[in-house]
Amino acid sequence: MIDGADYEHQPALVAETLGFLEPDSGVFVDCTLGLGGHAEALLEAAPEASLVGIDVDPQALERAARRLERFGERVRIIEGRFDDLEQHLATLGIDRVEGILADLGVSSMQLDSAQRGFSFRFDGPLDMRMGGDGETAGDIVNQSSEGELERIFKEYGEERRARRIARRLVTERSRSPIETTSQLRDLIRRAKRSRPGRREGRVDPATRVFQALRIAVNRELAGLEDLLDQAVRLLDTGGRLVVISYHSLEDRIVKGRLRDYQRGEIDEITGRPLAETQILEVLTRKPVRPSEEEVVANPRSRSARLRAARRL
Ligand SMILES: C[S@@+](CC[C@H](N)C(=O)[O-])C[C@H]1O[C@@H](n2cnc3c(N)ncnc32)[C@H](O)[C@@H]1O
Repeated sequence: MIDGADYEHQPALVAETLGFLEPDSGVFVDCTLGLGGHAEALLEAAPEASLVGIDVDPQALERAARRLERFGERVRIIEGRFDDLEQHLATLGIDRVEGILADLGVSSMQLDSAQRGFSFRFDGPLDMRMGGDGETAGDIVNQSSEGELERIFKEYGEERRARRIARRLVTERSRSPIETTSQLRDLIRRAKRSRPGRREGRVDPATRVFQALRIAVNRELAGLEDLLDQAVRLLDTGGRLVVISYHSLEDRIVKGRLRDYQRGEIDEITGRPLAETQILEVLTRKPVRPSEEEVVANPRSRSARLRAARRL
């Protein structure tokens, strides 16, 4: 567990990100600044470029600000959600950008900090908020109906035992509230053990439910669709979009949205795509994955999948 000021998040697929963004001059947006690893690499690679960095997590922004201090006025930092991207940029008087990066999910700092409640590996309160406001995972776990919990676990965690876990949760919380990550993890383990089924390999039985709650708390999937739509409107001709996702639900959304923008809308009369609505060229036929060396050096990069596109 960490809380130290010198904590480092090792960013994934940095060289690949820069390869697709091709930063030269102009404004680039890092929608998930985190601890500023990708941002730093971009600013170093392109001395003429400036960067707007956005994140919901004030703790991460504080560290990123320190890390990027040496770039002076080339960096502007905004605390907020990336699904308000256009609004954030408008406050800076920006309506066109050269490149946009979104490196989705949680940072290692968030995952490894017990009191943020993201991980079942540490005992902490059931929080999971990336920013400071809104419902916590504990609120959802203790207040949602059984049906709603089942839906969340199934939809956002693709958890096969969603119903069983939801039922168990509702029974146990009627005795006393579920307040900590360990309580929830143990409950999931009990619920799953009571009906032995296929093994889940090396994955902890609590993984999917924790992922599901994190997505629900932070409205991750809905936010991602909004982000992609705004990114496409903001990119200058030739501008690049790079999105790194860490689970299949996110990747499916990114893949689908980019493909829609590449294909364009279909003319109802001719049945052909309308050329003027084909506004993206997808640059990655398949998602780019980290090399074996990267996964060895940075095991958390192993699920990263990068997709990139160019604005036409
Ligand atoms: C994988 S980390 C990014 C790490 C960063 N690329 C680096 O090099 O340090 C993901 C970051 O996205 C932020 N985040 C997640 N959802 C967000 C949203 N809807 N709006 C803004 N930031 C978000 C998280 O707070 C977290 O810091």
